[in-house]
Amino acid sequence: MTTHNTLSVLFVCLGNICRSPLAEGIFRQRLSEKDLDNKIQVDSAGTGDWHIGFPADPRSISVAEENEILLDGKARLVRQEDFHCFDYIFAMDRHNLNDLEDLQRQHGGKAKIRLFREFDTSTESTLDVPDPYYGGIEDFREAFDLLDKTCREIIDHLVEKLAL
Ligand code: 4NP
Repeated sequence: MTTHNTLSVLFVCLGNICRSPLAEGIFRQRLSEKDLDNKIQVDSAGTGDWHIGFPADPRSISVAEENEILLDGKARLVRQEDFHCFDYIFAMDRHNLNDLEDLQRQHGGKAKIRLFREFDTSTESTLDVPDPYYGGIEDFREAFDLLDKTCREIIDHLVEKLAL
């Protein structure tokens, strides 16, 4: 198996204000707890352009704060170079996955595109991360727990690919 000195991952959802910024913040926090922040780079982006330049949804920010995680990024669109720069792109749901695969067919690039919950070992089937945007704070808390569990599993998976 090839090992890498560093890896980079991009989390992608529709608006880049609810799920993917939470995933990014959680992933970054769990990396730093394992002293891996200089080994794996992380970012997030969206496939839709409605919220470009805006901070994360206030409900994502407050659920992150409840867990001592700061979300200070601004929404951005997935761009052509992401498919060339990132090692992994994790789609929050199957719509995002289809959109990303279409974009990669146009732009090329080495990035491996995966459905985020492929790495959730608590389920047999690969499922979407439900979009909490039209829900309430409890839906954001549920999203947090799901994202946290799977982020930890992704980190365990990627660590095996790193030359530590
Ligand atoms: P996200 O949630 O994809 O998890 O950021 C959404 C945010 C905004 C919209 C839809 C989903 N929207 O339709 O504006």
